[in-house]
Amino acid sequence: MNYAIETHQISKVFGGTVANDRINLQVIDGHIHAVLGENGAGKTTLMKILFGEEQPTAGTIKIHDEPVKISSPAEALRLSIGFIHQNFTLVNEFTIGQNFALGIEPIKNLIMADYDSVNKKTRDILDLLDMPLSLEAPVGSFSVEERQIIEIGKALYRGAQILILDEPTSVLTPQKIEKLLDILRRLKKEGKTIIMITHKLEEAFSIADEISVLRKGALVATMARDQVSRDQLIRLMVGEEPLSVVEKSPHEFGDTLFEVKDLCVRVGGRDMVKHVDFEVHRGEIFGLTGVGGNGQAELVEALTGMRPVSEGEIRFNGKSVVKWDIRKRRLAGMAYVPENRITRGTAVTLSVLDNLVMGHHYRPGFHSGFVLNQNAMETFAEALIRQYEVVASSLEINAGSLSGGNLQKLVIGREFSMETPFLIVAYPSQGIDIRTTKYVQSELIRRRDTGCAILLVSGDLDEIFSLSDRIGVMYSGELVAITRPEETNRFELGQYMVGSRRNR
Ligand SMILES: Nc1ncnc2c1ncn2[C@@H]1O[C@H](COP(=O)(O)OP(=O)(O)OP(=O)(O)O)[C@@H](O)[C@H]1O
Ligand SMILES: [Mg+2]
Repeated sequence: MNYAIETHQISKVFGGTVANDRINLQVIDGHIHAVLGENGAGKTTLMKILFGEEQPTAGTIKIHDEPVKISSPAEALRLSIGFIHQNFTLVNEFTIGQNFALGIEPIKNLIMADYDSVNKKTRDILDLLDMPLSLEAPVGSFSVEERQIIEIGKALYRGAQILILDEPTSVLTPQKIEKLLDILRRLKKEGKTIIMITHKLEEAFSIADEISVLRKGALVATMARDQVSRDQLIRLMVGEEPLSVVEKSPHEFGDTLFEVKDLCVRVGGRDMVKHVDFEVHRGEIFGLTGVGGNGQAELVEALTGMRPVSEGEIRFNGKSVVKWDIRKRRLAGMAYVPENRITRGTAVTLSVLDNLVMGHHYRPGFHSGFVLNQNAMETFAEALIRQYEVVASSLEINAGSLSGGNLQKLVIGREFSMETPFLIVAYPSQGIDIRTTKYVQSELIRRRDTGCAILLVSGDLDEIFSLSDRIGVMYSGELVAITRPEETNRFELGQYMVGSRRNR
C-alpha cells in the first residue's frame, strides 16, 4: 500500500497528560481519512505533531515512505503538509492574496512584493475551490464558511499535497458543510490526501475512505468506511454501549418569563434582525434555528446585551432589560452559554479555577467579609469538573491549555450551575463529544422540568427537534415560523430555513 503518512509509536506527554499513546496511523495516499474521537482524545495533538507544531515525546514519522523529522510548520509545508486549524489564523485586515502570500511574498524589481503574480495564483486556487471571491476585499468581510475555504486555499497556495483539517465543519451550517465536503472530494480527485477530524459520524461516512478512532490518546482502530457500522464507531469512540436518546416528558408551561417584541437590530447599516416577536415560558425550551447568518447571532447578541437594539423591546420577568448591560442581565438571572466559547466564554489566560467561579463570586460561602474562600471555590470547581468530565490536569493551569471541547464543557458547566431562571444556550453540542452532548441535553431537560425558561439556539435539526417544546425558524433576519416538533418535520423546517415557506 502506498501511504502518504505513517506514524510509528508516536507518543506525546504534556506534564501528567498522555495526549498521544504509541499511535501507529497509516493514511493511504490520495484518500480521505476521517479521524473521530471524544473531546480530549488527542486528535488535535496528533495533527499538530504532523504539522510540526508540537514535537512528539517518542515515535517516528514517514512521509511517502521517507523517514522525516517535522521540526516546524515551515518544515511541514516543505514536506507538502498543510493544516487548517480549529480556530482561524487569517489576518482579517488583509486581502485573500496577502494572506496566502504572507511571509512568502514573491519580489518584483528586487524590492516590491509582486501582488500581480500572487493574485493570479490566488484566482486559480479560488477557481479550483469554486469560490469566486473578491481579491480586493479584506478577509474579515467574508462569512465564516468563506473564510474556512480561504484557509484551505492558503494551504494549497503554499503547496500542500496532504491537507489536515481540524473540525472544519463545526462552524458551518448544513448546506455549507455539503459544499465543503464537495470541495474536499474535488481535491481528492486532484490527487490530494486529506485527513479530517470531525465529531459527526455522518460526515465521516459521507466522505471518508478510511476512518480512524482515537480514544484517550490511543488509536483504537482504523477501518475502511464500507466495513464499519455507525454503532461500531460509537462503541469504539465512547468505549461502551451507545447512550440512549434524550427522553422528555410532556408538560405544561408556566407563565411568560422572557419576551421579545418587534425587535430590530441594525449592524453597519444592514437590518440583521427584523421585527422579531416571541416569548419563552417558564418550563419551556424554545428552540431557535435557521441557516447560519440569518440573524440568529445578532439576535442573541442583542438579547444578552452585547449589541444595542435599534427598535423594539426585551422583557425579562416583567421588566424591560433593553437598556441593561451584559452584567446587569446576568446578575438578574439570564445565564448565557455563547456560541464561540473560546473567545467569548472564557478568559484563556486565567486559570481553570478562575474561569469556573467567574460570575459565581457573589455566591454565599465563596466569601467571608472581603476575603474570598479559596477552599469553597475549589470544592465547587472540582465538582463541576467531575460532573462535566472536563479533562484538566489541575485547577491552576491556564484555561487556554485545555482542548477545545474541554474548554466548552467548562463554560457550559459554569453557566448551567448558576441555576438561573433563564438560560440562553447557543449551539450546545458544537465541538463536544457524544457523551457530553447527551449529558448537556439531559441537563437542559432537567432544568426545563424544574421551571427554567430556556432559549436554545442551534443549527442541528436533530438537537432542536428532540429538545424543543416549540421551534422558531429565522430566515433573512425574520422569525418566519413558530411550530412544534409534533406538528412539523425535517422537510418543512428545511423549507422555512431556506425561505420558501412561512407560517407567520
Ligand atoms: N499544550 C498543552 N498542554 C497541556 N495539555 C495539553 C496541551 N495540548 C493538549 N493537552 C491535553 O492533551 C489532551 C488531548 O488534547 P487534544 O487537544 O489533542 O484533544 P482533541 O481530541 O483534539 O479534543 P477536542 O475534540 O476537544 O478538540 C487533552 O487532555 C488536553 O487537555
Ligand atoms: Mg481538538
